[in-house]
Amino acid sequence: WFDQARFIPPDAIFALTAKYVADSFPQKVNLGQGTYRDANGQPWVLPSVNKAREQLMTNGLNHEYLPILGLADFRNATAKLVLGPELYSQRQSQVATCQSLSGTGSLHLAGLLLRACHGQPKVYIPSPTWSNHHQVFGSLGFPCESFKYYDPETRDLDVESYYSMLDNAEPNSIIIIHACAHNPTGCDPSKEQWKEIARRMKERRLFPLFDSAYLGFNSGNLDEDAYPIRLFIGEMGMEAGVCVSFAKNMGLYGERVGCFLLATHTEQAATNTQSMLEMLQRSEVSNPPGFGAKIASQVLRSEELKRMWYTDMITMSDRIRSMRKALYDHLLALETPGSWDHLIRQSGMFGFLGLSAEVVVQLRGMSESLDIKVPVRKDENANPSTAEQYHVYMADNSRVSIAGLNEGNVEYVARSIAEVLKA
Ligand code: LMR
Repeated sequence: WFDQARFIPPDAIFALTAKYVADSFPQKVNLGQGTYRDANGQPWVLPSVNKAREQLMTNGLNHEYLPILGLADFRNATAKLVLGPELYSQRQSQVATCQSLSGTGSLHLAGLLLRACHGQPKVYIPSPTWSNHHQVFGSLGFPCESFKYYDPETRDLDVESYYSMLDNAEPNSIIIIHACAHNPTGCDPSKEQWKEIARRMKERRLFPLFDSAYLGFNSGNLDEDAYPIRLFIGEMGMEAGVCVSFAKNMGLYGERVGCFLLATHTEQAATNTQSMLEMLQRSEVSNPPGFGAKIASQVLRSEELKRMWYTDMITMSDRIRSMRKALYDHLLALETPGSWDHLIRQSGMFGFLGLSAEVVVQLRGMSESLDIKVPVRKDENANPSTAEQYHVYMADNSRVSIAGLNEGNVEYVARSIAEVLKA
């Protein structure tokens, strides 16, 4: 039965984490996968999440099934959070919600629903983008088309290419939008540009599907980060899907806590699409996992915990911002070839350095993953590694997870980059 099975290479970003974990070099640095680390390079359990967990334990936690659509309190609190109280109170009855397996599960559910309602229209995906977008929509049979989002020359958003894609896209196509903290480039449209994007999408009857994994984590201000979602659904009165993940902003990576929100135009459409989501969820995962959703719900529904959570998000985004600046300052101080202003213009979890694949491999110190043969430096006096390898791990496209930097390693990383570029 399986003689025809193809071998699929491991997912690049998870494979990179595995390589980092297997590396025994004491000064190794992981800037690969987007997971927050504290000032000591350790995973951080948010104090608000810790407290919610304690409360759940004290109040008695059971392990019963959740309903197929997930925890109702969690779904409603998520919709209110994302839309803001005002828009939520106006549009609540026109919004369908379904708990999901984090952001990926939410995108997948959205795809299933869109396919069931509209067949397989084109899905336009920014280039570059998060590595899983093409896979999620491609595996559902959607024809996926990339559009130029980033200009490597200016190292900035290429908004003219974005507009031109919108002007030429087939009507009724789906557009994948990073709500904020674009992954991997860290370049988001300005408010004026968002308005123009929304106007063109509405005019051309394109469906906005927001991938929303960094609300509040990007700027430390959730209302700021939710701006485009509220603009499209509120001010522009558009139908839109929002795929929400609490992996990053609550640090609930392994619990797979997410929610799909669909803003429709009528109460009937919301009722019907929610019933479809219930059926689709049942056939996929039966019902979603309970623990993480209970924690998130506890945080979102308590004024005290929610205030703590907002502070936690400021702690994370402030630390990332200061490490971004520290990396920039060290690169400049070391007279690292090239210009680095783009690094401090970007925002969110990632820095998009603009290094070649060869440099990325040299920094990592191993060539297998990209199958690129590069000479490994053997200079005993080389600073800072004095070894064969730098052991600085970043994604192949030179995206760095800034959260992996701290006072103890940022200079080492800058020196490694400077050294490779000067060699
Ligand atoms: C990332 O982009 O590194 C994260 O979102 C982790 C993942 O699942 O790819």
